[in-house]
Amino acid sequence: MGEIIMKNLFANRVLNNDTSDLNEIFKNSANPENISFAGGFPDNRLFPDHALQAAYQDAINRGGQALFQYASTQGLATLRQKLAERMANHADVQVTADNIMLTQGGQQAIDLVAKLLLNHGDAMAVEGPTYMGALAAFDTYEPTYYEIPVDHDGMDIRYLRHTLKAHPEIKLIYTVPDFHNPTGTTMSLQRRKDLVALANQYDAIILEDSPYRDLRYDGTNLPAIKHFDTEGRVVFISSFSKILSPALRTGWLVADEPLIQALVNLKSATDVQSSSVTLAAIDSYLAHNDIDQHIANLNAAYQIKRDAMLNALDRYFPANVSFTRPAGGFFIWVVLPQGVDAKQLLKDVILPQAHVAYVPAACQFAHRKVTNGFRLNFTGLDPVTITTGIKRLGGILQHLNVDTTVAKVALS
Ligand SMILES: Cc1ncc(COP(=O)(O)O)c(C=O)c1O
Repeated sequence: MGEIIMKNLFANRVLNNDTSDLNEIFKNSANPENISFAGGFPDNRLFPDHALQAAYQDAINRGGQALFQYASTQGLATLRQKLAERMANHADVQVTADNIMLTQGGQQAIDLVAKLLLNHGDAMAVEGPTYMGALAAFDTYEPTYYEIPVDHDGMDIRYLRHTLKAHPEIKLIYTVPDFHNPTGTTMSLQRRKDLVALANQYDAIILEDSPYRDLRYDGTNLPAIKHFDTEGRVVFISSFSKILSPALRTGWLVADEPLIQALVNLKSATDVQSSSVTLAAIDSYLAHNDIDQHIANLNAAYQIKRDAMLNALDRYFPANVSFTRPAGGFFIWVVLPQGVDAKQLLKDVILPQAHVAYVPAACQFAHRKVTNGFRLNFTGLDPVTITTGIKRLGGILQHLNVDTTVAKVALS
């Protein structure tokens, strides 16, 4: 059967879900000739592989045959208890293990919340730009998106207030408040409070997605948005992907009743449970290792990489290109002059001539309309490679003729 005919059989909800551009970018990233700033990858060399190996072994030794049986959908109770303590100590959120569900990465948690709340056409607010993986998850539920701009203090709450006034039917607000993907910015304390007040006023649910929260290189952490939640309308998500390993595919979701029970029911229908073996291994890792020391080591290494990228950007990028200066996380956001299409530029010039990859703006906006920007990741590469890649990228941008659209990119 031909591809076109076969696609006629696909459900409407996946027809708009075109990831071919991204597949192309990640294919190019895998080419060793290229320096790729595209993926949101932790540094391979910082994974605690020996400690994790010991943790899996310990989990299997302790659990015996019973470990290999089906287990609860919500996930290992002792691990949820540890996470409840972590939520209190690291996010100022007081919850019990009953409020927590373990998921297959934060990605599954996003999908489950969308599945719970979004009928076809339902209104939701997302940051513009936002995490493209969340958009991919939301797209399949066919919401009506309202994009809220992001500035140096995170989501623009004044803009959100106007949007909610005009569209009080908005039922879900998705935000990445800590070291935002893709801009790296962090939502201010006041905006966190204002956001909860608006959600209360307009009867909306907030999805607080915070996998980068612990990866702070300057300053001190702010309380989670969930800390200010008095009506049980904030669902908080985090993950072990960035602080331990993404291959564990383990994240967690924090919610109050009735949301938590409904989400447990949906996970049961989706995949029954996460891997008990992996959850027991993570539980053992946390019992026998100081994860905060591990995170401190990550932060020391990632700070050097962040600084290497910022120094190179200062040095090699032209004055008409601006970029963010994140205090943590994985990403820097670059804004090109109006009219430049970063995707076309990548394909036509950057990849073939500079052999560098990034994630162009459009796929990180719900409406795909903004083209003049891109996301850079600084955690996956070493500082020397970062500097080399940014120098090559800057070399092209220095010679970009900004009076034209990129279809006519002129290199002088
Ligand atoms: C903002 C954000 N949320 C969620 C995820 C999903 O991560 P995982 O499913 O590996 O926990 C990512 C991964 O890049 C992310 O950047």
